[in-house]
Amino acid sequence: MSSISLNQIKKSFAGLTILQSVDMDIEKGEFVVILGPSGCGKSTLLNVIAGLDDCDSGQIIIDGKDVSGLEPSQRGLAMVFQSYALFPAMTVRRNLSFGMEIAGKPKPEIKNKVAWVAKLLQIEALLDRKPGQLSGGQRQRVAIGRALVRSSNICLFDEPLSNLDAKLRAETRVELKQLHETLKSTMVYVTHDQIEAMTMADRVAVMHKGKVEQFAHPQSIYEKPASLFVAGFVGSPAMNFFHGELDGAGVFKTADVAIETSGYIFENKMTPGASVLGVRCEDIAVVDAGAPDSIPASLAFVELLGADALGWFDCLGKRLSVKLSVDAARSLSETVGLRFNMTKASIFSAATEQRL
Ligand SMILES: Nc1ncnc2c1ncn2[C@@H]1O[C@H](COP(=O)(O)OP(=O)(O)O)[C@@H](O)[C@H]1O
Ligand SMILES: [Mg+2]
Repeated sequence: MSSISLNQIKKSFAGLTILQSVDMDIEKGEFVVILGPSGCGKSTLLNVIAGLDDCDSGQIIIDGKDVSGLEPSQRGLAMVFQSYALFPAMTVRRNLSFGMEIAGKPKPEIKNKVAWVAKLLQIEALLDRKPGQLSGGQRQRVAIGRALVRSSNICLFDEPLSNLDAKLRAETRVELKQLHETLKSTMVYVTHDQIEAMTMADRVAVMHKGKVEQFAHPQSIYEKPASLFVAGFVGSPAMNFFHGELDGAGVFKTADVAIETSGYIFENKMTPGASVLGVRCEDIAVVDAGAPDSIPASLAFVELLGADALGWFDCLGKRLSVKLSVDAARSLSETVGLRFNMTKASIFSAATEQRL
């Protein structure tokens, strides 16, 4: 187990800033997911931690030791990529042991480690096969095994499941999480998939344009997104947003409708001005048209999702989603009232896009 500290990591490629001063403290044994859209700099950050890329400035501290100038092999960590990068001509056994052979490890140690990791990942029956004779999920397991025999202290993963089909991805996600619980190693896992982030992470770092916008427990990221970007990126369907004006008395005005924000807990202090109100689909109640404190809305269409349903309404000049029970969805009127649960809402400054 090891801890990792990143201090003001900056990186640019050909004059283009890719990482703008990333700070992060990852605790021993923590499972941290770096989540963000394609191109935001996730892989670059992981490569900088691994030493595969140099940063322009900043420090990488592992277990209190500055490793910024060290070669990848001297940093005591292992990395698993999206492409398995197994040697096709070698058996699974050889793929697992090769790195240790090159490093000149004693034979008995190599044998023990291969046996340990094969048992851990349940690939014992595959040891004499070649990668071409394995399924995608099995190959990825071998790739993870190869990383674990190198180092079980720190493992870096770069979108390791994105080549797997949906079912296998869900299964492997659970297995990886269980592996983390068994090994209690420090894991840094990069993905653009919010489900992976929400289900696996102890903490999620949401990245946007080379910056960490929020680094917190997945539930806090969902419930109290720190910025408009985080609010819009995490959650499906996306959070409903309304642009408007917050007045000095804490009333949010949008499209001629006044919404009381009482019940909303401001992060700092209430700042009047142009703002964005965000409400998730499960925090909106459907009531009778014209009911007190409700906002008029008309039903556009319903999506039945099996366990529940989504109602899509035209309201305040926007198309917005409301989570419904299947029964409620079947008996909806064309015109209804909607009530927002302000205790669960989010309000952002339109200027800074930060949570108010
Ligand atoms: N070696 C490189 N040379 C030039 N630009 C690069 C290089 N590697 C990455 N980039 C650019 O840096 C940005 C971030 O890339 P990357 O870290 O791979 O993003 P992510 O993993 O989040 O999708 C992208 O715009 C990409 O084109
Ligand atoms: Mg990437």
